[in-house]
Amino acid sequence: MSVKIIQTADGSNSLHHEVLDETYHSIHGAIQESKHVFIDAGLKQLNKKNEIQILEIGLGTGLNTLLTFLENKHQKIHYTAIEAFPISMSISENLNYIQLLNATKQEHVFKTIHSCEWNTPIFLNEYFVFKKVLTTLQNFKPTQTFDLVYFDAFGPKVQPELWTEEIFTKIYFTISTKGILVSYCAKGEVKRILKKVGFEVETLPGPPGKREMTRASKK
Ligand SMILES: C[S@@+](CC[C@H](N)C(=O)[O-])C[C@H]1O[C@@H](n2cnc3c(N)ncnc32)[C@H](O)[C@@H]1O
Repeated sequence: MSVKIIQTADGSNSLHHEVLDETYHSIHGAIQESKHVFIDAGLKQLNKKNEIQILEIGLGTGLNTLLTFLENKHQKIHYTAIEAFPISMSISENLNYIQLLNATKQEHVFKTIHSCEWNTPIFLNEYFVFKKVLTTLQNFKPTQTFDLVYFDAFGPKVQPELWTEEIFTKIYFTISTKGILVSYCAKGEVKRILKKVGFEVETLPGPPGKREMTRASKK
């Protein structure tokens, strides 16, 4: 896999996937986008629950995991991230998230996210259990339900096989009642599929540089 570190408009790094010619985040700001889509429109909507199960589709740089960890105060979070094509340690060590987020004290957490064993849950602190699963989304067989899904695959233009009715049906059945899925993607066809499989779909304002994003809820 060939990826190159790039800088986005808010100063934070992202990666450019050279074969797909696709970036891992918005070029308008990686941290800004992740906070807006996954933390503000996702995690913060569930802040009344004592314990939550999160599924991330596409661990990638680990930015969403790190932001979720930093945001968490009192909830018990069980965080599962799946990834089919992990980045190398040398790439993860050169990302500038720790500096930009003033999180030097949590640097070991970011390192652990990348260096820990696959398929083995670990405590990042007493409130946060992290497990990463080396699998494709197509082959992923969930054995539990999730309250929140960060759907952060590459876009439907380059990976249409991940934005199908079959995939979203599988996700629908792994989401708990009142659970939500958030995605940076607001493509009409994707929202139609989400509705078709049973979700209630909201189109929300996107992060700076992107008009819209999507939140899908299971009522
Ligand atoms: C848009 S990037 C986002 C990554 C991550 N959330 C981040 O903040 O860096 C999409 C991620 O999905 C992963 N991926 C690509 N195809 C996949 C598949 N079939 N199953 C699971 N993950 C996949 C990529 O390797 C990449 O890490």
